[in-house]
Amino acid sequence: MNLILMGAPGAGKGTHAKDIVARFDIPHISTGDILREEVAKGTELGTTAKSYMEAGKLLPDDIIIEIIKKRLQEDDCRNGFLFDGFPRTIVQAEMLDKIADIEAVIYLKCDDDILLKRLTGRRMTEDGKIYNIYFDPPPENVKVYQRDDDNEETIRERLKIFYDTFSPIMDFYEGKGAFYEIKGDDAREKVFDTILTILNIM
Ligand code: AP5
Repeated sequence: MNLILMGAPGAGKGTHAKDIVARFDIPHISTGDILREEVAKGTELGTTAKSYMEAGKLLPDDIIIEIIKKRLQEDDCRNGFLFDGFPRTIVQAEMLDKIADIEAVIYLKCDDDILLKRLTGRRMTEDGKIYNIYFDPPPENVKVYQRDDDNEETIRERLKIFYDTFSPIMDFYEGKGAFYEIKGDDAREKVFDTILTILNIM
């Protein structure tokens, strides 16, 4: 099963990706997570990525395409994969089309005021668990941190870039009959049920 979870920053891609891959036993490929790991390791790629990410800007397509081509060659992708945060430009989508058949693109559509609250309230653990001080607060004994790009100024830039780049990608996948738009601002369980309904009828 080759899937893409799409949506503005804060739409719930990472949250629902974890539930989907647990159910379907496919790898969760998040370009954001890959880049944050490189930043944490202090690699050359990480140093480059840091400046783009802190400003809320997209990395150049050639860097991202290289990462994806390499990742798809790994053994765990043989039975499928779930992309989160990729493709983010039409160039990335067209490149992906040359190397993989995408069965479904699920777009989590949310209102901006909800996105802003979700992102300013997001807290993470070092092992990747996602909490939210407003909707799903971390237990008192759990150590959490806030992402560097989850401040209001950077969030607004990330949202702007999303809306500037999304429409040609949506047209591209709608043209292939693989595009499903769902309400991402419902409760987490309800959104996941809708995703499962789509994946079970494919
Ligand atoms: P990336 O890491 O992909 O970030 P993003 O797209 O901005 O998305 P987020 O991870 O912020 O949001 P999400 O949709 O996963 O939300 P989440 O599930 O955590 O990219 C970061 C940066 O890396 C980019 O800005 C760019 O610089 C670079 N980059 C990455 N990929 C790239 C690419 N392909 N090309 C170029 N550059 C790239 O949920 C958010 C919060 O809401 C959480 O607290 C969660 O608990 C809560 N929540 C979620 N769903 C619900 C719900 N239904 N009800 C209540 N709360 C909810």
